Amino acid sequence: MKNKSLAALLYTFLVVSLLFLTTQNLLQAQGKAGEFPDPKIPGFSFPEPELNLDNWVFGSVSAEIYRHGWGIWTGITQQVSSNERVFETWQSPKEILAQTGMLKAQLKGVKHFLLLEKPRQFANLPKLMRTTKSTAVTPDTRIVVTVGYSPSAAQHTLTNKLLWASTIKKFLKDGYTDMPNFPIQSVTVKPVYKVITKDKLVKGVYPFTAWPGPPSTPQAFGEPDWNACVYVSLTNQGKGNGKIDYGCTGPTPETTYNLSDFINHKLTKEEADALKTNPNYPDVQAGDYIILVAMHVGTREMKRWAWQTFWWEANPDKPYEPSLQAIANVRPAQLKGAPRHYAMSVSYQMLQPAQPLTGGVNKGTPLFAYNPYLEAGFDPTVFQVFHPIDTPTGILKTEYGIQTNCTTCHMLAQFNPSSDYTQPGIRETPYAADFYLDLDDPLFKGMIKLDFAWSIIGSLDLTK
Ligand code: HEC
Repeated sequence: MKNKSLAALLYTFLVVSLLFLTTQNLLQAQGKAGEFPDPKIPGFSFPEPELNLDNWVFGSVSAEIYRHGWGIWTGITQQVSSNERVFETWQSPKEILAQTGMLKAQLKGVKHFLLLEKPRQFANLPKLMRTTKSTAVTPDTRIVVTVGYSPSAAQHTLTNKLLWASTIKKFLKDGYTDMPNFPIQSVTVKPVYKVITKDKLVKGVYPFTAWPGPPSTPQAFGEPDWNACVYVSLTNQGKGNGKIDYGCTGPTPETTYNLSDFINHKLTKEEADALKTNPNYPDVQAGDYIILVAMHVGTREMKRWAWQTFWWEANPDKPYEPSLQAIANVRPAQLKGAPRHYAMSVSYQMLQPAQPLTGGVNKGTPLFAYNPYLEAGFDPTVFQVFHPIDTPTGILKTEYGIQTNCTTCHMLAQFNPSSDYTQPGIRETPYAADFYLDLDDPLFKGMIKLDFAWSIIGSLDLTK
């Protein structure tokens, strides 16, 4: 009798521990909604100590920087459910603003969904909306974006009430030059999606604009200028083999890819209803798919942030610039499935060799890092600040989107007390292409720097 109950106890213990271990393993393998999940890549850690990152940047150890960027991508694209990856569970500044000042008990009832909007970066750029060249197939050049803050970035923004103008003004009054910095484990993302609405289908497949690489001479080069297409089969009939359709002549099996080649998401009713208010999407319906074509990712591991950007490539083994063969070569084995179909470009510095945080000079080779789907269309009218660079081949004035770098433009994220932010197009200024910018540049005098986060000023509530 005694033995029997002991055996039963032992058996229960075994079953329970087995169950526990299995769930643990599953959770680890799939990632959880929330903070950065460990992608289990040997040699990769997050957050990486700032000193190590600085050694790579100032010591020009590019391969380590590339490996780090891929580790971040592998981590945040882990699947948490059949319809969501880690980064898609993160709240947008709009959601954080709506919760600012709420009681703890009220916060529990908040439901998250993807708020897909026209890119704010394009707020004052009507010229970008040119019409596409007339081709056999008209690719869908529309995009929608959202911004996501990882839980620690969101918590920091919420508890410090950073999206209330009164908070920022108070800091300014008290003599601050910077808003409180984000914690080092903060990650922010800007995912860019194409919405597959039924009205855009051609012969049962969805045509959209494929990045054909940058033009040889600097110029504005937005989606309507690319003149190249790829096609997406919603029923996984594609046999895409790395080719894109130059000239948008029409779908072939080799230029048709499958939904499963993309990070994709099925729109919920809330998401579709919110998107319907956008005049570009009158036909959107719940259940329509959105595919991720690009994503900006920033981490606060370094004072000037670690920036990396990703876009879908038909042939990610041989990506177009601004990615590089050397970047594709160091993709980790743990990066599998749809997330492996993307190319990366990184910006952990503005010039090569890297200049110090303060007291540097505009001398060296510019390091361009941009996302084709976001910045490539910018022309010189977009930028307000220019600092010519003394390069090995002469003085260079950078003034196009394909000459930008995340770090320079994001350092300019600031609150200017003399700007009238009630006016349209004022928040997202001043803009700059790539050059060295000193953290103590005179242009920051009298401003509050927003720790490189443009979305703080973009979503700032002027009435609070
Ligand atoms: C010319 C200016 C400019 C450049 C260049 C630029 N960005 Fe941004 N970025 C913005 C603006 C403006 C926003 C705010 C968008 C919004 O609120 O919707 C933003 C938003 C973001 C966000 C959301 C969090 C935040 O900081 O507000 C991330 C992440 C981001 N950008 C990453 C990048 C990366 C990575 C690159 C380089 C590949 C880059 N950006 C290049 C202007 C720029």
